[in-house]
Amino acid sequence: MENWIERGKKVRMNTYSSFPIVVEKGEGVYLWDLNGKRYLDFGAGIAVNALGYKHTTYAEALSSQLHNLCHCSNLYWNQPAIEAAEYLVKNTCFDQVFFCNSGAEAIEGALKLSRKYGKKKKGARCYRIISMKQSFHGRTLGALTATGQEKYQKDFIPLLPGVDHVVFNDIEAIKQAISEETCAILLEPIQGEGGIWPVDPDYLQTLRKLCTEKNILLVLDEVQTGIGRTGKLFAHEWYEIEPDIIATAKGLGGGIPIGAVLAKQEIANCFTPGDHASTFGGNPLACTAAKVVLQELLEKGLLAQVEEKGEYLNQQLCRLQKKHTVIKDMRGIGLMKGLEFHIPVQEIIQKCMDKGLLLVGAGTHIIRFVPPLVISKEEMDEGISILDEVLSEV
Ligand SMILES: Cc1ncc(COP(=O)(O)O)c(C=O)c1O
Repeated sequence: MENWIERGKKVRMNTYSSFPIVVEKGEGVYLWDLNGKRYLDFGAGIAVNALGYKHTTYAEALSSQLHNLCHCSNLYWNQPAIEAAEYLVKNTCFDQVFFCNSGAEAIEGALKLSRKYGKKKKGARCYRIISMKQSFHGRTLGALTATGQEKYQKDFIPLLPGVDHVVFNDIEAIKQAISEETCAILLEPIQGEGGIWPVDPDYLQTLRKLCTEKNILLVLDEVQTGIGRTGKLFAHEWYEIEPDIIATAKGLGGGIPIGAVLAKQEIANCFTPGDHASTFGGNPLACTAAKVVLQELLEKGLLAQVEEKGEYLNQQLCRLQKKHTVIKDMRGIGLMKGLEFHIPVQEIIQKCMDKGLLLVGAGTHIIRFVPPLVISKEEMDEGISILDEVLSEV
């Protein structure tokens, strides 16, 4: 593996501090490195591999699609894109879908659609977006501007004009920030990278009312929280509100890159041919992946299991919290949980990896639990017992 990593360091831009293993293959909720060491994966490629690895139906559908048609561009229609969009529309409060390739790109699409709507409804000056401090929306310049964390932004200023950041879950702060120029409010139902902070239900419901009153769009970033991660197809369903637009990605393709913007009809109508596009967006291969993921969730009963699995994970993490005083807090919904520690978590993550458990951090003091949605209770027990063992040593 060292040789491969040396080769990689020469040719791959130095944007990631990757752990020193080379992953070769996966099956179920396990990954194997080049030396044949097996790891239980509680990170799912950062909340992506909803169906785990080597999922038979998924692999067969993709293989057959590859033999048929991989790409044709949006100059023409393709069936998988129509079917995947139909699944999304049928199972949400939204009417139309724009497919793209990643979370950041879905955010860009949502920002552009919001601005187009604002200008159409209230004039050229209605272009400002309010987003949240500690939020994360991606690395492209628009998404990075919306992201409320200076550490990601500081070397890339000047960013885009017209984005205001307010304190998350503080309704007075947002009331003060809203002006005639505000076209949209953007937030994550659970701040992921920011440390697994769920939005307060009263806050989100008040925000919904406020947006309706003032004709401001409520845009949710469901890139990480969507596609069954919290036990509902989209996390906003827990809060009994309907956003105007959502951006999603990650789990949608189960490992094949795809993102999507979903919007209500009146808002979607603001986009006309030429306004927005993506060469790969709605690619038949990626949309076949999305179709299988959505079928597994909605028709094969996977979604219905996530809440129960999340409850089980909750119990196990609470047990750990009682036992180990180094744990400060436990938060999250469904299979998106965070453990906050009194100490930095890097060493804990490394030790777990040595013992065959892969974990993902969220900031310096939080471990994020976002396993494949297909994980079983026994597999959760296996992971928790490794973490328990490591925590007894730190
Ligand atoms: C909430 C949220 N939005 C947007 C993004 C950006 O997604 P991508 O990395 O696919 O561009 C992420 C990625 O972690 C995310 O968690």
